[in-house]
Amino acid sequence: MNQQSARYASLEQRVVFITGGGSGIGASLTRAFHHQGARVVLVDINDTASEALVDELRAETGAAPRYHHCDIRDVASLKQVIHATGQNVGPIHTLVNNAANDDRHSWREVDVAYWDERMSLNLRPMFFAAQAAAEQMIQAGGGSIINFGSVSVRMALGGLPLYVTAKAAIHGLTRSLARDLGQYNIRVNTLVPGAVMTERQLEKWIGPDDEAAIQARQCLKLRLEPQHIAPTALFLASAESQAMTGQELSVDAGWG
Ligand SMILES: NC(=O)c1ccc[n+]([C@@H]2O[C@H](COP(=O)([O-])OP(=O)(O)OC[C@H]3O[C@@H](n4cnc5c(N)ncnc54)[C@H](O)[C@@H]3O)[C@@H](O)[C@H]2O)c1
Repeated sequence: MNQQSARYASLEQRVVFITGGGSGIGASLTRAFHHQGARVVLVDINDTASEALVDELRAETGAAPRYHHCDIRDVASLKQVIHATGQNVGPIHTLVNNAANDDRHSWREVDVAYWDERMSLNLRPMFFAAQAAAEQMIQAGGGSIINFGSVSVRMALGGLPLYVTAKAAIHGLTRSLARDLGQYNIRVNTLVPGAVMTERQLEKWIGPDDEAAIQARQCLKLRLEPQHIAPTALFLASAESQAMTGQELSVDAGWG
């Protein structure tokens, strides 16, 4: 957190559970919540990146987030880590459903097994993590669930229809859960990143020409980076957004 970053007293000591918190935007979320004094638990499959992040934050602050290896396609294991978090760390206040995978695929080549696998990663865990964490939030008197959507839905991007389908469904998930959980003071919102220049995006999909084309269409001529996304997640978790639920917030530098 730099010196200009907002400080949210309501996040101090809060238990924050982040999927895919070990790299990319997730690492920035882990750092940001940790620096707010929250008790962060992250799950990921990238042990090297996640453990390095934990070590970095321990060295920097003297405290460390807790990392668990968990493939979120395995719902039983995801629910088990959420349950253990409630028992060992405290009731989850904020669930950040961040992990996803945007691998490209041809619409011709998709078969049922691939469809199911993509949904098991990009959509299904969001519901089951919310289902499990909501029980702890109810006990604790409220909470915040932040589901990560994608600008690809609005831009109607091709070459990855299953990813875009899952990301579109997240808007319905957010709105419906916001209705069901509002009575328990649990808020559910969608955070919609634009084209964020993570390591993976730059390695796999976005070359200099693509980046220039994206910036040409952004209102703001900046390189969108993970640290531009995390502050909005902090806000959505904090008491400052206590009357906001069922919303979609885009952080995309005005890409359109
Ligand atoms: N980067 C972008 O431009 C962009 C744009 C729109 C939306 N998003 C969304 O933002 C979120 C974060 O994206 P990102 O770009 O940081 O992605 P990323 O691929 O860089 O990071 C995703 C993280 O999730 C982890 N992960 C992947 N599969 C997992 C699994 N099965 N179980 C547990 N963890 C797993 C990865 O190891 C990684 O740490 C995603 O929901 C993504 O769809 C990103």
